[in-house]
Amino acid sequence: MKDNLKIEIASLKNGAAGDAADATLVAFCGPELSFGPITAKALQPGAAAMAIAAKVAHFTGKAGQVLDMLAPTGLGCARLIVFGQGDKDGKEAPAPTRHLHLGGKIRARLSGGESRILCEAPGAPAWAAEAICDMVTGLQLRDYKFNRYKSKKADDTENNHQNDVTFLVADAAAVKKALARQAGLTEGVALARDLVNEPPNVLFPEEFAKRAKELTALGVEVEVLGEKDMAKLGMGALLAVGQGSKRDSQMVIMRWRGVKSGKDKDAAKPIAFIGKGVVFDTGGISIKPAAGMEDMKGDMGGAACVVGLMHALASRKAKVDVIGAIGIVENMPDGNAYRPGDIVKSMSGQTIEVINTDAEGRLVLADVLWYVQDRFKPAFMINLATLTGAIIVALGQDHAGLFSNNDALSAQLASAGQATGESVWRMPMGPGYDKLIDSKFADMKNTGGRHGGSITAAQFLQRFINGTPWAHLDIAGTAMGSPQNDINQSWGSGWGVRLLDRLVADYYETGSKPA
Ligand code: BES
Ligand code: MN
Ligand code: ZN
Repeated sequence: MKDNLKIEIASLKNGAAGDAADATLVAFCGPELSFGPITAKALQPGAAAMAIAAKVAHFTGKAGQVLDMLAPTGLGCARLIVFGQGDKDGKEAPAPTRHLHLGGKIRARLSGGESRILCEAPGAPAWAAEAICDMVTGLQLRDYKFNRYKSKKADDTENNHQNDVTFLVADAAAVKKALARQAGLTEGVALARDLVNEPPNVLFPEEFAKRAKELTALGVEVEVLGEKDMAKLGMGALLAVGQGSKRDSQMVIMRWRGVKSGKDKDAAKPIAFIGKGVVFDTGGISIKPAAGMEDMKGDMGGAACVVGLMHALASRKAKVDVIGAIGIVENMPDGNAYRPGDIVKSMSGQTIEVINTDAEGRLVLADVLWYVQDRFKPAFMINLATLTGAIIVALGQDHAGLFSNNDALSAQLASAGQATGESVWRMPMGPGYDKLIDSKFADMKNTGGRHGGSITAAQFLQRFINGTPWAHLDIAGTAMGSPQNDINQSWGSGWGVRLLDRLVADYYETGSKPA
């Protein structure tokens, strides 16, 4: 995966920059070009050149400033890049994602060949292993590219050079240990991004299921159900969405048993993550406008996140019993497609009047949510879905919408969001919204009108959770077409993998702090 980014961890000691004639050297300084002692010594021969360059560039070592010098006099390296770490006007608090983003910024500057990064915080002996681990992760996330369908590889873009990067750190063993734990997380994000970026002619439901099945190599149990199996289960809602497609709809159930059920009391109940996997959403008979429809290949961002998360958890052998379940369908107009006016019966027994075939995600989730709570009786269910355009209107692309029947779970998600930078914003729910989806002809209808479109969608889902503690993340704004940033240059962002990995690590693994 990371074939053109090679990371090495070596020990930071006096003279550690080594023979750097062809290398790029990366260092960090505080206000007024103050370095840590080892870095200062390594850069000493170039101090005069640096002082001149800093003056010309108005570089004072504040956070956010960068001094980038080619062939600095006296320094015996090809390039020196200094990242300011001082306070931004003395006000900026150290954000939890600071080092992650710093790593992304570093990766963006590297132009190939060898680089050495002197990981010494200005004014302090060393950064903690976790901070450096975050930095490495930032480099890797920034390095991600999806170019498997380009027959010519442009060689002038940021991501097409071989970079051999050595991090020079105080405690190499500790950093290597932290990195070993998070390697699978970076892979999980990349896997989720790949799935979202794949074109819909390649990633049809069975192909998606096949990719999920590859998790068996990590020890994940994977079951795949086809249309016949789901018909037997009575999944009339999910199947209705897929019936206009030539492709067979699928449901995939993944399980990572990092603890033996029943060993301790809390582990008796698994936790569960559920994803919307509409591999392409034309809208069906209620067809979408042509402009931008190609983006609907990303309507499986929820399912992609669940697969990426399972990869991450299994890779680090997380001490948790966790279910991942995804409903994978293609929403197409066709002679056999479901129509507005149809009444379908969900696995729960509740009937649904279809008002708009473009409100298909909730129909898919209705059956998967019901199935998961019925079969596994999980401690909680969290579903992710690119569910509504309305959530983009409400929150933009910087927060996912959070809807929940459980304050404790919501608080945990909010705090994991702050820790990872994958932020959530809780939205209201209640009977006043719920009644908007009551139907004249069936138990409910699949749209609630223009008002509060994301909320009525959430109310719909809530009718299929049977009282289980539950949270719904509407990721229509965050999973795809995301604005590029320090750690993501990809159309499919892989949003949610880091958030939920963190949620599990902080609250649900054996040995994590009590929930
Ligand atoms: N997949 C879309 C929501 C979406 C929109 C995701 C933009 C990502 C970007 C969903 O299936 C949909 O079409 N929702 C409708 C619901 C409406 C018909 C009630 C919408 O948001 O317009
Ligand atoms: Mn739709
Ligand atoms: Zn959709």
